[in-house]
Amino acid sequence: MAKTIIVSNRLPVKISQEDGKFIYKPSEGGLATGLGSIYKEGDNVWIGWPGLAINKSDQQQEVITNLKKESMKPVFLTTTEIEDFYEGFSNETLWPNFHYFNQYIVYDDDLWKAYQKVNKKFAKAIQEVLEPDDTIWIHDYQLLLLPQLLREHAPKASIGFFLHIPFPSYESFRLLPWRRELLEGMLGADFLAFHTYDDMRHFLSSVNRLAGLGNSNGQINVDNRKVMVDALPMGIDYDKYAESAASPETLAREVRYRTSIGDQRLILSIDRLDYSKGIPQRLRAFERFLGEYPEYVGKVSLLMVVVPSRDQVGKYKELKEEVDLLVGRINGHHSRLNWTPIHYFYRSFPLNALSAFYRMAEVALVTPMRDGMNLVCKEFIASRLDKKGVLILSEMAGASKELSDAILINPNDMGEMVTALKNALTMPVKKQMAQISSMQNSLKHYNIHHWVSMFMKGLNYIKKVQKDLETEILDNQISDRLITGYKSAEKRMIFLDYDGTLVGFDSDPTKTKPDKELIDILSKLTKDKKNQVVIISGRGRDTLEEWLSDFDLEIIAEHGVWIKEKGKEFRTLINLNDSWKDPIMEVLKGYVDRTPGSFVEVKDYSLVWHYRKVETGLGEARTRELTSHLKYITVDKNLKVLEGNKVVEIKNSEIDKGRAATVWLNKYESDFILACGDDWTDEDTFKAMPDDAFTIKVGNMSSAAKYRVTDHTDIRKLLASLL
Ligand code: UDP
Ligand code: G6P
Repeated sequence: MAKTIIVSNRLPVKISQEDGKFIYKPSEGGLATGLGSIYKEGDNVWIGWPGLAINKSDQQQEVITNLKKESMKPVFLTTTEIEDFYEGFSNETLWPNFHYFNQYIVYDDDLWKAYQKVNKKFAKAIQEVLEPDDTIWIHDYQLLLLPQLLREHAPKASIGFFLHIPFPSYESFRLLPWRRELLEGMLGADFLAFHTYDDMRHFLSSVNRLAGLGNSNGQINVDNRKVMVDALPMGIDYDKYAESAASPETLAREVRYRTSIGDQRLILSIDRLDYSKGIPQRLRAFERFLGEYPEYVGKVSLLMVVVPSRDQVGKYKELKEEVDLLVGRINGHHSRLNWTPIHYFYRSFPLNALSAFYRMAEVALVTPMRDGMNLVCKEFIASRLDKKGVLILSEMAGASKELSDAILINPNDMGEMVTALKNALTMPVKKQMAQISSMQNSLKHYNIHHWVSMFMKGLNYIKKVQKDLETEILDNQISDRLITGYKSAEKRMIFLDYDGTLVGFDSDPTKTKPDKELIDILSKLTKDKKNQVVIISGRGRDTLEEWLSDFDLEIIAEHGVWIKEKGKEFRTLINLNDSWKDPIMEVLKGYVDRTPGSFVEVKDYSLVWHYRKVETGLGEARTRELTSHLKYITVDKNLKVLEGNKVVEIKNSEIDKGRAATVWLNKYESDFILACGDDWTDEDTFKAMPDDAFTIKVGNMSSAAKYRVTDHTDIRKLLASLL
């Protein structure tokens, strides 16, 4: 039976060793807690690192056996791999870069090599269990190379990827010397999802700039494979947290904790010890709050749970010292005999204890400098069974996009945090209940089950799109049929687009005149008296005439404005007017002035704005502006505005290649028709062809053509095989 293979660096259980024995405990961190509660519901296996270096083979075997019972398969990392891959490249290079702590990045080629090596190790572990219909779901920044490594091994595999941390803007990501390889690794997936739209658009912008690939509604063409990108915020297992908040064990703990802490009002914070979480900033804000509002001294405490994390990494060690010092100073300064400002726990707690904390606090203070999502704030909301309470949430957390009923703060603005604390502690109960209810409703709906199902829907959808496109590939069987049809025909019509179909693209379009190979193909093709070859191009007639006059062929130029039959001069098909050109030219000149690298090509009955050489991103932005501008001013002028490959073309709406091709279809009887083209203008040609024609699209965009090939070299090969 087909299964889902979940892959993440950290398994949802972590192993530690006490008195020579292995202890299995739940892992902390949003990925493990979020997915960990539900992955066993289907036929899944989770592959990942158990959190400890285990080198002896008998011990490894023991762990393999125990984890297998829980549908897990361990990937064992050596001590060096833990240092270089996990603590090193993952957490000293990628983590700071993706969270905009670029001054903390360690740039080290050896760490990069370890990252590559361990990603390969994960790929091998997956290959050991992978079967043809399985789905692979890869998680997070530690495994960015894995999608492509698996793709190489299993080209047809269904591979999803989810990033649990922010994807940085291109300006941050570009700092990494290995940015291209990382991106290519990710693009091995079929479906990539991020917590927020901002992460998604940052990723797409890096793909555009580094891999030169654009997207259409989040879909990218990667080596003839459609890849989809989307924003899918991760939810929590809502019922689990709501039920835990009501459980007798939680209530008993609450009573115990209250007895030891006292009855003061509580502000709660829970995070891993991480500089991305804004812990010192929060402590300073709390101290200032006590200074500015002394009436709360003795009445309000901060209950702060800090879970040890990555404690061998330098910056985390430094942070631990900073937090210890701050807590010590604030408590030393402000404590009273019967009151401690900060109850600080540097340890992790089981779910019931966390639920008790979520119940006891009136305010949750969640202040990350950056956070992919932040599940703690969602868990707090789900645990508020009486619907009272206030969430103060950093706008730098992904969760802030969903929880707009929280008090949103900028963690760099201490004054704002202090005011937020005051507002939270004085908020009328009615308002609290309205806000919590509204956030609860949203979190109930967009829960973890919803997230998993939306992810799988996205992945299945793009696999189906790929499959639909795949059936049209011009395979050997169809080629054989085409060649047989050609050979047995007496009168053949062959329509060939030029740029992108017979020649590849060049940033300088004057450089794509016929090369030796093409000259050879065209000479042989046109010398065969059974063939009627028509070059059907968007180019101006002069260029086509100059490049192709040596061949015995006919020409359709400027997308159908001009036609040239053998032995005759160019003529227009219909009476066209070009009085619209001057005013439109003025508009285009304005865009050229503002956009270095762009230029306007003037044709007899069309104008083309080219932006191949314009800075990536700027050209696309100008195109959006220009097309909406043009649509407005061309509305009553019988003109078409068309976007092509790095061009915007304005032409008379009566002109199209299909209309021109029909002249030949009506004129000649034929028993074999072939039409090849690569862009939107060729779609009119395909549509004009009779049902029994062979129509071939170059590239993998949707098309009216029956078959598709990858690029112009395939067309050349096909034509050569006819000769
Ligand atoms: N958590 C835990 N034990 C603790 C403290 C926290 O299991 O003692 C869990 C918490 O319930 C939450 C996760 O750790 O589900 C933290 O996820 P979050 O998304 O807030 O931050 P991350 O650690 O992933 O950056
Ligand atoms: C974040 C990351 C996870 C990671 C977790 C705990 O949630 O997105 O990938 O597992 O932190 O960090 P750790 O280094 O202990 O795995």
